[in-house]
Amino acid sequence: MVEIRKVLPLVFSMLWLTPSHAADLPAPKFTEEFSRQERIYRGEVEQAVEGYTVDRSLAVYADALASGFDRELATLGPGDRWLDIGAGKAQAILDYYAPSYDLTHAAGAQRSGSKAQAIAMSIEDRRTPLWHQTAARLPFNQIQYLADKRLRNYSLEELGQFQLITDVIGGFSYTADLSLFMEQTLGYLKVNGSFYTALQDIQFEDGKNRPYYQGSPFLTELRNADGTELKVCAWLKRIACAEVTCESRADWQPPLEAFRIRKVCNEVKVPALDPLQYKAGTPPERRFQVRN
Ligand SMILES: C[S@@+](CC[C@H](N)C(=O)[O-])C[C@H]1O[C@@H](n2cnc3c(N)ncnc32)[C@H](O)[C@@H]1O
Repeated sequence: MVEIRKVLPLVFSMLWLTPSHAADLPAPKFTEEFSRQERIYRGEVEQAVEGYTVDRSLAVYADALASGFDRELATLGPGDRWLDIGAGKAQAILDYYAPSYDLTHAAGAQRSGSKAQAIAMSIEDRRTPLWHQTAARLPFNQIQYLADKRLRNYSLEELGQFQLITDVIGGFSYTADLSLFMEQTLGYLKVNGSFYTALQDIQFEDGKNRPYYQGSPFLTELRNADGTELKVCAWLKRIACAEVTCESRADWQPPLEAFRIRKVCNEVKVPALDPLQYKAGTPPERRFQVRN
């Protein structure tokens, strides 16, 4: 028993530190698709460049994400921290720090610019001259850009915890290990903090929509262990210590479903999923099944 206790944390920390190139390689059957996906991130697949959006504004984030995001961000104070996973050029963070933000958000104006620390994370480094100028005029590390690694390659010691985490067609849409991604994200969230994310072209909670592209499947599909269909929203609602709301955004093309996941206690448990399919794209086509 003592031995097991000693060994377990070691195994866990080894998994946590897997090098980034191997990060999304849980099964050799996807190797080719993963290397194509890497080339998409680096802008080397011509057909994919156009579909790979990296400069969504904060206004677009507010439109895509579940209601409450704009207000939660505006009420963060200087002691709080915001992590944007899969930030691209980090335009949303730059907009939060633009002087015009305070003019449209009363809570921010009252604090006259004293805001949460914001961290952008991206596999590829897409920092712009505006990023460097903004970082230079703000206190040291008020905004930070973390590149060259995926979420799963960081540790809690490195990143710390956040009051607010966002992901707009970032890691949650691209990972080959959806349940590990969710478990780690919730590990970086403080109790009572929220994770706002969204997935495009999936079966909504009410089950009424069909795949956006005729003849194609939904982009992300889940199955129960017995093979029956499982909606993403229903899977999220099975997470222990999380309060989940799901909102469809039918006006997006393709339509998306927005999720707010509020962490309500520390004993988070995410129902494990095994990857069945991963086809590179912007975003990739993925199938998962609940582990028995
Ligand atoms: C399509 S871009 C979206 C950028 C931004 N959110 C926007 O809406 O403009 C995808 C981003 O997710 C990042 N990404 C994909 N998988 C990730 C992972 N597992 N961890 C961290 N970043 C990831 C990519 O590097 C890129 O920055």
